[in-house]
This record gives sequence, structure tokens and C-alpha cells, in this order.
Amino acid sequence: MTQTHFGYETVDENDKARRVRGVFDSVAKKYDVMNDLMSAGLHRAWKAYTVAVANLKAGDRALDIAGGTGDLARAFAKKVGPTGVVVHTDINEAMLRVGRDRLLDEGLVLPTTICDAEKLPFPTGRFDLVSVAFGLRNMTHKEAALAEMNRVLRPGGRLLVLEFSKVAEPLRKAYDWYSFSVLPRVGRFVTGDADSYRYLAESIRMHPDQETLKGMMKGAGFGHVDVHNMSGGVVALHVGIKC
Ligand SMILES: C[S@@+](CC[C@H](N)C(=O)[O-])C[C@H]1O[C@@H](n2cnc3c(N)ncnc32)[C@H](O)[C@@H]1O
Repeated sequence: MTQTHFGYETVDENDKARRVRGVFDSVAKKYDVMNDLMSAGLHRAWKAYTVAVANLKAGDRALDIAGGTGDLARAFAKKVGPTGVVVHTDINEAMLRVGRDRLLDEGLVLPTTICDAEKLPFPTGRFDLVSVAFGLRNMTHKEAALAEMNRVLRPGGRLLVLEFSKVAEPLRKAYDWYSFSVLPRVGRFVTGDADSYRYLAESIRMHPDQETLKGMMKGAGFGHVDVHNMSGGVVALHVGIKC
């Protein structure tokens, strides 16, 4: 059996997907409130920037992978309008249900599909834009997922990967203290689950840094990749163009 990382632990590949599912099953209902608390609302600015860079037009076709509770899908749907389409997907049913209910409450009925980013059930060249926000980190075979994202884009289409990344050196000490001392405590207080937030902090450290991810995207077939650092590298938006 091939081994991989689950945070700082080394686990069997099959076990990783099961444990990631456990994390998101556990946090789904409190996911949105925790996002606001953990980031002091900053995740809204990171996503708003992503939506601005996406620059979707009426009639465009977009796919949001690991879409969870639907922040990007909702913003994209407003941009593409009734002539476009935004497909809201995630591997986790609990997260997708929370997202779908939120979208319905806001009068948005989007195609919503459970799917694994590593095996996308869409035809080649289907989408103008594919996005994945804070999802790639949790995937077992990141190269396979990136290759699938490339496949479903039309030539000239763009992939937006919004993800935690390598923080600038002067921020590192404070960021580590916050991640390992504060975050699990807030997680325990709000969701009753400190371990999922310890996994969050560890999985961020194990995730490829800006340059490595850029190289992985090029390896997956993106001819041009731009990196936009935000909040001192706490988060980076990678934009890949399928050439
Ligand atoms: C931190 S949440 C991000 C949710 C949302 N995109 C956001 O930015 O708020 C990560 C999501 O990735 C999903 N995920 C993990 N592995 C996945 C995979 N292989 N394919 C699709 N989604 C996956 C999880 O189920 C979870 O909903």
C-alpha cells in the first residue's frame, strides 16, 4: 500500500480519503462560522479577490471543485447570469448539503454534484473556468487532480487554485503560534473538535509552497501560471492558463 500524509502523520493512501471525510463530516455545520472566526473575516477578502481575478462574463461555464458551502459558486453564479452555468461540486456530502441549502435560501438553484476531483465526471474541454478553494491541500493525488482540472477546461480556459501557502519569514513565528496554540482551542470551543483544526494547521505546512505548486500546475499542462500572494503568503492564488 502506498503511503501519504494526513497532516504530519504518514498513512495509507486509502486511509487519507477516509480521514479527510471525517474532518469535513465533523465540521460541516459550523464550517462557515469557523471560517469567519479563524480568519477574522479575511477569507471573504481572499475569495472576493479570486472572484475579481476570475472575471467571469454572462454565459460563461464554471466548475467549482471542493466547493463545500458554496462561497465561490454563489459569487460566480451572479457573474455568469441565467445564460451561464456554475457547477457546484465536492466529494463530501455533508459539506455539499450545507452549501446547497445556503444557495437555495438565496434563491440560487445550481447543478450540485458529489465528485472526486481526481476523477471528474465531465467531458473534456467543457468549462471556461475551474476553481478550487482550500481544497487541493486535502487531495491525495494532487497531480492527478490538477490533470483532471486541465482536461475539463477548454483551450484558453483558466484554473484558479486558492490555497494556504508558505507565509513570509517575518510572520512565521506568530503564524505558527496562532495555528498550533489558538486554532485547535477555538475549534474545540466552537465545534467540539480540536483535532480537525490541528489537521488544518499541519496540512498547511505539508502543502507545496508557491513555487512548487506552480511547477506542479505546469506539469499538469498549464502553459502559463501566475501566483498572487495574499496576506504575506498566508494564502496564494495560482492562476493557470490551459494553452
Ligand atoms: C476547506 S474546505 C473548502 C470549501 C470551500 N471551497 C471554501 O473555500 O470554503 C475543503 C473541501 O475540500 C473537499 N475535498 C477534499 N478532498 C476532495 C476531493 N478529492 N475531491 C473533491 N473535494 C474534496 C472537502 O470535502 C471540503 O469540502
